[in-house]
Amino acid sequence: MNTINFTRGVPANESFPIDEVIDAARAALNDKGAAMLQYGPALGFQPLREWLAEWQGVSANNVLTGNGSLQIIEFLCLEMLKPGDLVFTETPSYDRTIGLLRRRGARVVGIPLESDGPNIEALERALAQGVPKFFYVIPDFQNPAGTTCSGAKRRRLVELANKHGFLLIEDAPYRLLRYRGKEEPTLYAMAPDRTLHMSSFTKLIAPGVRTGFMIGEPSIIGKLAKVAEETYISPGYVAQGITWEWCRRGLLKPQIERLKELYAPRLDACLAGLDKYMPDASATRPDGGFFVSITLPEGVNTAAVRAKATPLGLNLTDGAAFFPDGGGERFVRLPFCALTPAEIDQGILRLSEAVKAAR
Ligand SMILES: Cc1ncc(COP(=O)(O)O)c(C=O)c1O
Repeated sequence: MNTINFTRGVPANESFPIDEVIDAARAALNDKGAAMLQYGPALGFQPLREWLAEWQGVSANNVLTGNGSLQIIEFLCLEMLKPGDLVFTETPSYDRTIGLLRRRGARVVGIPLESDGPNIEALERALAQGVPKFFYVIPDFQNPAGTTCSGAKRRRLVELANKHGFLLIEDAPYRLLRYRGKEEPTLYAMAPDRTLHMSSFTKLIAPGVRTGFMIGEPSIIGKLAKVAEETYISPGYVAQGITWEWCRRGLLKPQIERLKELYAPRLDACLAGLDKYMPDASATRPDGGFFVSITLPEGVNTAAVRAKATPLGLNLTDGAAFFPDGGGERFVRLPFCALTPAEIDQGILRLSEAVKAAR
């Protein structure tokens, strides 16, 4: 019996464009080898910054690249926060960001996430208690919930950020992986002076390229670059040079199409499995991304289900780490991208058996 891991949100190995990366590496090193192998500005490899700027419709001064987007979040914490500062995240939210905020000593308040984005009344109540330095949101195909923020709630977030004077950190690594439906505008498009928009090539090329980026006001971008310089002098220019060459060859668009073809049937298998085996669990129904999440029926908790799942050959993540201020006892995240449709079906069958056993 193969063990099925609904644990880490990683891309599928078979999605990596290895031959394209080999060709791009050779071409980039031939063309810009000395620059790629030398130290350089902490803002990132300039040709990549320029390519990103054109793609995103901004100036290169608005672009910071880094070794993955997570470390850019760390730079943000180092630059903007001192111990005790207030920060909002959605609850649940990305556990590694919560970890970085905590490590910096921030007071993290979770704003409950609904199927169409943060609960706005809860946000207003939290704002009446205190205005955060920033609100970290994942509006598209949220990690871990899988939800997407509606256009109406995006507008409210921007209004409230303007009214109370806090920043929106829009972390959007899954945005381009929409398998169906219509996309909403980014928060950055609605409020460029209030928003720092982040994304990454981790989910588009591969985690190994460790190339993430942030778009924002040049004054903030410059400060974060200074923290980056003090941390690692300059980011990995070899990876950034390869990423640039691969992008400028026009390979991003066809790669996104291939990812959609690979992942859409996996999402469908996940939703169909939940309908078939677990009709009483309340599940999110995303149109893209990497995650579906479920809230287990009353009376069953994730810890007990995990314990029953392991001997059935199913590994699950503890939901609690996604909840900055408690809760999540019945929350289960199901990352579906790195499993085949048959494995997903089998995994959800085992999950339903583990839930029965835990009742
Ligand atoms: C919401 C979110 N932000 C950031 C990251 C980290 O991405 P990177 O590999 O670019 O550091 C992830 C990775 O899973 C993520 O889900």
